Amino acid sequence: MGFKLSSFLATLLFICFINYDTVLSNKFEQDPVTKTMHDFSGFPIQETHLPNSLSLLSVDSQTLQKQIDELSTFSDSPAPSVTRILYSDMDVLARRYVKNLMGLAGLSVREDAVGNIFGRWEGYEPEIGAVATGSHIDAIPYSGKYDGVVGVLGAIEAINVLKRSGFKPKKSLEVIMFTSEEPTRFGISCLGSRLLAGSEELAKALRNTVDNQNTSFFDAASFAGYEKDEEKLSSVFLDKGIYSAFIELHIEQGPILEKEGISIGVVTAIAAPASIKVDFEGNGGHAGAVLMPDRNDAGLAAAELALAVEKHVLESGSVDTVGTIGIMDLHPRAINSIPSKAHLEIDTRDIEESRRNIVIEKIHQSAMAISKKRGVKLSEFQIVNQDPPALSDSSVIKAMELAASELNLTYKKMISRAYHDSLFMARISPMGMIFIPCYKGYSHKPEEFASLDDMANGVKVLASTLAKLSLH
Ligand SMILES: *[C@@H]1O[C@H](CO)[C@@H](O)[C@H](O)[C@H]1NC(C)=O
Ligand SMILES: *[C@@H]1O[C@H](CO)[C@@H](O)[C@H](O)[C@H]1NC(C)=O
Repeated sequence: MGFKLSSFLATLLFICFINYDTVLSNKFEQDPVTKTMHDFSGFPIQETHLPNSLSLLSVDSQTLQKQIDELSTFSDSPAPSVTRILYSDMDVLARRYVKNLMGLAGLSVREDAVGNIFGRWEGYEPEIGAVATGSHIDAIPYSGKYDGVVGVLGAIEAINVLKRSGFKPKKSLEVIMFTSEEPTRFGISCLGSRLLAGSEELAKALRNTVDNQNTSFFDAASFAGYEKDEEKLSSVFLDKGIYSAFIELHIEQGPILEKEGISIGVVTAIAAPASIKVDFEGNGGHAGAVLMPDRNDAGLAAAELALAVEKHVLESGSVDTVGTIGIMDLHPRAINSIPSKAHLEIDTRDIEESRRNIVIEKIHQSAMAISKKRGVKLSEFQIVNQDPPALSDSSVIKAMELAASELNLTYKKMISRAYHDSLFMARISPMGMIFIPCYKGYSHKPEEFASLDDMANGVKVLASTLAKLSLH
């Protein structure tokens, strides 16, 4: 009986959905982009009542998942992997998808000269600094569909949640999609947010920046419909105070929340990243003929420096200090030839900038000592970037904690060891980040996954935090 009744209901529901779908697809037949998003109608906007209970924060997580799946199809590699490179055709289509969702959420959309996209919901006191949230949608080759995307589509859903609940913002709310958080195309990470935060240095560097096809940054940007004129880059810079807070929702990209069964990570600090390029050069020679005392082996110098990096990192005495040699190339790379050139790229991070800088200095000292001892030339020691860390703002932390506890969600304070656009937004705005668990901490690969429930929790905490800070 119960079975029959529920299958009857299921059939009824199914019929309802068919009709609903038919109506919508007729309506949007002319526009293929809108058509693929026909499910995005959400609940009716109820402007008449105020949210007197947080239980009114209803996240449409099915639709959110559908949008994440749809966005992932704008990819230059086959599913389930995602590859979306800055200013490529797929990037342009994905951007259009995001702008459409912003429009459907009733946000007014603006783009700047490099393609940072802003969707604004004007508050009733619009002259006060807006409360902003956002992340990125570019994806490194063969990665997954949640990194960054949860913080863009989830932010738009957070706006929908607030609209459905009847909320009226006092300070305006703004969703930002940042251009090129990943360094894939031009070797520069967080390109959009660095510029927003006013990096003159980057604006200057972009004049001479080309990708590996020798396409200049400005040619690539104008291909995608953005600025060709390098003089106009300073229009991207935002003044300090334009935002009264910035919050980014993101998958943890680490295993802690999942392992401990905790729903929400309240990020208190983002570690300070730095990267270094090193080249050693020796004489090379025949692997049999040149005797050991007569060698100056660039490969062994690189190997010794790699171990020195580990040693200096461990000497800091803090688990927060990390160092990685992710690239070590030898030339000519033949089994019977002594390496004449070695190239290393070193990544080192810490939440304490001075401690990280000591590590960099020690690495430099070691590189010089090794070069002297082994008779190889240290032909390059280039610090590519050396960014300070960012601390979350205490008022934003408080709002995030309050939001999580009012929603009865478990949370813990944690450090973001990966960096994000928030690292740079912190230069112009009080900042905070919300982490949600992801499967086994996987990220930057197709297995990346976050559950519907975890995303819904993250969107709820974000919506509630935005509401609190907007009314604050
Ligand atoms: C890259 O393009 C510039 C300007 O078009 C040109 O002068 C230069 O020779 C090119 N370099 C390579 C390696 O093709
Ligand atoms: C949180 O738990 C309390 C106590 O059990 C309950 O009264 C409240 O409604 C819950 N709040 C939400 C948002 O679920």
